[in-house]
Amino acid sequence: MTLVLGIESSCDETAAALVTDRREILAQSIASQEAEHSPYGGVVPEIAARAHAERLAPLIEQVLTKAGKTLDDCDAIAATAGPGLIGGVIVGLVTAKALAMASDKPLLAVNHLEGHALSPRLADATLHFPYALLLVSGGHCQILRVEGVGQYQRLATTIDDALGEAFDKTAKILGLGYPGGPAVEKLALGGDPSAVPLPRPLLRSKEPHFSFAGLKSAVLRAHDAALHSDADIAASFQQAALDCILDRTRRSLSAMRPVSALVVAGGVAANQTIRRGLETLASEFDLPFTAPPLALCTDNAAMIAWAGVERMAAGFEPDPLDLKARPRWPLDPDAQPARGAGVKA
Ligand code: KG4
Ligand code: ZN
Repeated sequence: MTLVLGIESSCDETAAALVTDRREILAQSIASQEAEHSPYGGVVPEIAARAHAERLAPLIEQVLTKAGKTLDDCDAIAATAGPGLIGGVIVGLVTAKALAMASDKPLLAVNHLEGHALSPRLADATLHFPYALLLVSGGHCQILRVEGVGQYQRLATTIDDALGEAFDKTAKILGLGYPGGPAVEKLALGGDPSAVPLPRPLLRSKEPHFSFAGLKSAVLRAHDAALHSDADIAASFQQAALDCILDRTRRSLSAMRPVSALVVAGGVAANQTIRRGLETLASEFDLPFTAPPLALCTDNAAMIAWAGVERMAAGFEPDPLDLKARPRWPLDPDAQPARGAGVKA
């Protein structure tokens, strides 16, 4: 049996987990920083880094105790080495390096996006490569063909905001606080998704990419106009976002070489309306649809430990202890930048 300790600290969740190659999560702990960041309406990098530094060591101890394991029982220490907020990433990576050095175990530097990309395989043993992945989080919105561990072909990305960012900004406009995605989803339940006419940026565009900045501005204008209830705005925003996602994913699936499944991962994959829409889309293509359980969608350390398990099984070498944290780290370094895009990975 292979046992990996995983560490996650790239944004506002401090997390540790112990995962085996038999897909067992022996223990996991997550400390959310919601209370620290909510007065500011978003994640403050300096506050996040300090909170990770305070919480990570006790969390790791807690996870080992819960599972009745010691560092000696672990086969490797895996930590997110990027992309993300650099202060937090450094806290997690330095901690992993120290533990690896002290216990003489290999260090596995995990790309946070690879953690999300492989997370569905932790929960579903029947999910095989290659699969089509819609990766939707606070910082990313991409369609990838996942061909194997470390092998990703990016077909589409956002030219401006990530999907989670659009949810968070909508929440801010509607005064729902932070984090915004779950609050918008909840409010949308009581609203009419066709009440507010909102744009669907890049719908049916020949380019494969996403855009959400115009949708966000339209939400702001609709809110300022005060003609509709907040619930109707939330529901209409969610519907417009879903229409964009379905259109763009349909386009990529049509252009993609064969895949075994359509998969969604990342924080926004927790959204039930989006999950249902994608499930229907998958059936259009006669593909099974997979989404990780909710706890594996948003940031967690089990997915980082699991990516470590997958990397070991695929024969990747451990990483050197002088490895540097990477604030930007694309999964597909060969992907062409999207036209009109900023510098996002
Ligand atoms: O993957 P994640 O936890 O962190 C990043 O790597 O970014 O994703 C966080 C994002 C946030 O933007 C949050 O608002 C969004 O995922 N999110 C949701 C839901 N739960 C989390 N968006 C829509 N509906 C949800 N239920
Ligand atoms: Zn994430």
